[in-house]
Amino acid sequence: MHLTVLLFVSALSVATFALDNGLMRTPPMGWLAWERFRCDIDCENDPKNCIGENLFIDMADRLAEDGWRELGYVYVNIDDCWSSMQRDKDGRLQADPKRFPGGIHKLARYMHDRGLKLGIYGDMGTHTCGGYPGTTLDKIETDAQTFADWEIDMFKFDGCYSNASVQEEGYPRMSKALNATGRPIGYSCSWPAYQGGLPPKVNYTQLGEICNLWRNYGDIQDSWSSVLSITDWFFENQDVLIPAAGPGRWNDPDMLVVGDFGLSMEQSRTQMALWAIMAAPLFMSNDLRTISSEARNILQNKMAISINQDVLGIQGRRILKEKSGIQVFWRPLANDASALVFFSRRTDMPYRYQTSLSKLNYTTGNYKIYDVFTEKTMVLKDSTDFVVSVNPTGVVMWYVGAPAKRNFRQFYRGGRLQGSAYDDEDNTIKEFFL
Ligand code: GLA
Repeated sequence: MHLTVLLFVSALSVATFALDNGLMRTPPMGWLAWERFRCDIDCENDPKNCIGENLFIDMADRLAEDGWRELGYVYVNIDDCWSSMQRDKDGRLQADPKRFPGGIHKLARYMHDRGLKLGIYGDMGTHTCGGYPGTTLDKIETDAQTFADWEIDMFKFDGCYSNASVQEEGYPRMSKALNATGRPIGYSCSWPAYQGGLPPKVNYTQLGEICNLWRNYGDIQDSWSSVLSITDWFFENQDVLIPAAGPGRWNDPDMLVVGDFGLSMEQSRTQMALWAIMAAPLFMSNDLRTISSEARNILQNKMAISINQDVLGIQGRRILKEKSGIQVFWRPLANDASALVFFSRRTDMPYRYQTSLSKLNYTTGNYKIYDVFTEKTMVLKDSTDFVVSVNPTGVVMWYVGAPAKRNFRQFYRGGRLQGSAYDDEDNTIKEFFL
């Protein structure tokens, strides 16, 4: 489809002050164990679901064989409860020998052989949130070097059992220690989530300089109320959070729970749409071995992913909060395109929301619209009123192409309107499929 070409042309480089490791210029994508598999360490009775190497191997196989990797889902991330309760004789962290008999380095090789990456988890305090050994200030350099020796690609640094002053020293020091290993390791900081997520306690300029992504807020659970409370917090505080994000530095509203038990299909589309608008990291926490095809289709939606992965890396915003319960979100994209989401907070019936592009602050022009979930397309003039029907707790999501500015022409072939426009500004033919 021509639109795909339009979406992937021209990677503009934008000056930022992100962590200088060159990583994660678009939000990272992959799979993370925590929300779905928690701290299940009972490999004797629950061998398929326990935190052990088999779980990560299974998920890697699914990512590589079921079309996920090609869409960008490449990280396989271990969370809490992977380690042994004791460090080794040299003071290094070690994996639980029963659950990870091959060790972490071998697991990293398994990922790399399949074009995937391995992430791991640690904690700034005396213990991880699950009670496993923490890093503490004296072990920062040791642990960074251990992860580099294991060829780890991403590190999530949690904050349980630490305090504000330890965090203030430890998070920047871990950033330096990871860089000093010479191995590019994406760095996810839970620091702001432990400090309320807002200035003056949280310094987003500094975070952008030391971390690639950061958790701002509480943990996601497998429920609609959890998704709602997270999105409400992120959009209530959007004026603080939007400037913090950009290539190499992302706000992290936590994992996608699409494919689990708590969300309806409408709500699953809503999570995917809003995470795309927010330029959020897309880490699924679900069981890729048994996921339904409906949930998979949502997570594998190419247009939603390409909106999330837009090269400008500008986090989108809520532009309207109507009394009717309809909210409208907007994200500017490369090549003068944009994304719109119409979200219904209603719980009664599909709501017919009437508006126009000019009412949503679009300038004069004819716009190509691509509906992300129905895959329908149309052309809309800015001033034309339209109606979108938004289901309860659901969304309508649009990719809006650049306006056809000059030489807007319509082509008839065989008596049928084909609907191509020639844009002589950049000498390209922009199709818009009628
Ligand atoms: C904290 C984090 C979660 C998860 C757990 C593990 O709650 O916020 O994402 O890592 O710890 O114990």
